[in-house]
Amino acid sequence: MIRRIVLWPDPVLDHPTQPVVDFASLPPLIEEMAEAMKEAKGTGLAANQVGLGLRLALIGRADGSWFEIVNPEVLSREGGVVYNEGCLSIPGEWHDVPRSLKVRVRYRDARGEEHEIAAEERLAHVLQHEIDHLDGHVYAHHLSPLKRKLIREHMLKKKRDAGRNAR
Ligand code: NI
Repeated sequence: MIRRIVLWPDPVLDHPTQPVVDFASLPPLIEEMAEAMKEAKGTGLAANQVGLGLRLALIGRADGSWFEIVNPEVLSREGGVVYNEGCLSIPGEWHDVPRSLKVRVRYRDARGEEHEIAAEERLAHVLQHEIDHLDGHVYAHHLSPLKRKLIREHMLKKKRDAGRNAR
């Protein structure tokens, strides 16, 4: 069964995830996340978006392939840029979000090996968006309180309507 994407607002999306300790448990989880991301046509997916409070995310590349980041840490940021951003957990909404143009990120892969990546533009953007999820922040966190409140209200209505349709 494909794991369902959790919609915001939800406690699992609003709290920081726990660092991964048990790397041996990762392969099946990563496989399930990859399946959910493919199904949803996402460019990235954080574990808490499928209800797992773990510091683990998938980062999609422009060519459709992806790699996993475990226990990532942003080492540095450079420059500023604004992206019109969407999120699988906030379907139907697109908003301009201020981001860094370049980031350096340290992370581990599923085998526990450490990597460092210097990313810019699209890849830097996906990394920032997914690492924010792991820190307990959806992109609305970067918007004004008023915009955040509006998105929240849209989403609560969407969730209410979905609940009604399901009955
Ligand atoms: Ni997202």
